[in-house]
Amino acid sequence: MSVCFNDRYLRDFVAPHELDYLAPQVRLAHDQLHGGSCVGNDFIGWVTLPADYDKEEYARIKAAAARIRQQSKILVVIGIGGSYLGARAAIEFLHGAFTTALADKAGETVVYFAGNNLSGSYLRDLLTLCEGKDFSVNVISKSGTTTEPALAFRIFRELLEKKYGKERARSRIYCTTDRAKGPLKSLADREGYETFVVPDDIGGRYSVLSAVGLLPIAVAGADLDALMAGAAEMMEATRDPDLAHNPAYRYAAYRHLLGMKGKQVELLACHEPAFQLMAEWYKQLFGESEGKDHKGLFPASVIFSTDLHSMGQFIQEGSRLLFETVVDIGDDGASVPIGEDPENVDGLNFLAGRDYAFVSRKALEGTLLAHVSGGVPCGVIEIPDRSERSLGGLIYFFEKACAISGALLGVNPYNQPGVESYKRNMFALLGKPGYESLRGELEAKLAD
Ligand code: PA5
Repeated sequence: MSVCFNDRYLRDFVAPHELDYLAPQVRLAHDQLHGGSCVGNDFIGWVTLPADYDKEEYARIKAAAARIRQQSKILVVIGIGGSYLGARAAIEFLHGAFTTALADKAGETVVYFAGNNLSGSYLRDLLTLCEGKDFSVNVISKSGTTTEPALAFRIFRELLEKKYGKERARSRIYCTTDRAKGPLKSLADREGYETFVVPDDIGGRYSVLSAVGLLPIAVAGADLDALMAGAAEMMEATRDPDLAHNPAYRYAAYRHLLGMKGKQVELLACHEPAFQLMAEWYKQLFGESEGKDHKGLFPASVIFSTDLHSMGQFIQEGSRLLFETVVDIGDDGASVPIGEDPENVDGLNFLAGRDYAFVSRKALEGTLLAHVSGGVPCGVIEIPDRSERSLGGLIYFFEKACAISGALLGVNPYNQPGVESYKRNMFALLGKPGYESLRGELEAKLAD
């Protein structure tokens, strides 16, 4: 199994009988999810996705990725939330914190992301990076109406048409959207852009293993077959309804019990900087799935040892409101040996002949023991490496855990009603027709 959940450092905080009491609820949540009768059952297509995906489209994704790699130095991926985070996270996980600089150095297609914010300077800088380079665009929006990606797509489409002419620009625009409806689908059909589908029964944050994530991930040079195989393996491994044997359910159960004991924050920690965006993806997955009905753990993240020098103090001795989930990634074989310094100025010659991986391992172990002794419950998710297979497994592991955790909490883990509030206010303040009375109300508040 590519993902294991180690509860060794949780046992002082949660007793076996507490897990035993929860086991029947976990089994019920499992049965409802697998039987299709759970709350939000319109959006559980991700459960079988690693085996049950459109093979024809999958082949088209690979072909499109090869074409993009051949025709463009840059792929601009336009999308927000679930329509971008997974792809970005996966690419950085697989290729490391310097992924764009390394791809550029190797003369490979660099993947940049747009439409995930409303910063003019971000967009201007990205446009500068595209100057003089061949580029393509993959716009991803299930609804086709989300403001941030729609605005960015306007700009990049115009740029492509100016650079290549309307006709040639067509072959550089790839749309990932609803199968049949929405403004993006209509535009793509009218203009003849190649389209890929965000499946009806899969919400944004569970969609990374669909075309939403797969096209950008493939353009970045990843092995999609291994990614899907890793996810399929985890799908099988988490089919067991028994809490004692299902690592995703064990993780979900512990986080639920820790929440019941008053913990308010889950801190996802990793000692690998390449994991930073995966932590962002996890935050969206759990935050958007569970943060509703005035319930849910607040998902936060840290990268160690970096953040031990900023958040370490709080974790060790601050308010006891959090527990930690450490993602422990096995040695990736990137050996960086430590040399001998004849003067031993830094006093670190006791490490001479050792490798960075050794230092990192000891830092992980030492930090775990320190945090546990400081009263922080620590669960450990273990994966062997940063391969596609492990990544596929980890994605599925988190999705499955999130579904069961949401069910234990009694929320619908597939909707996000709260996201609409800011949109309504923004549209009103921007003067969108139909929002006139709200606009007046909000402007009066702002003037107060
Ligand atoms: O998880 C979700 O559903 C959201 O984060 C959406 O993915 C995000 O709001 C973007 O929506 P759309 O793909 O419709 O542009």
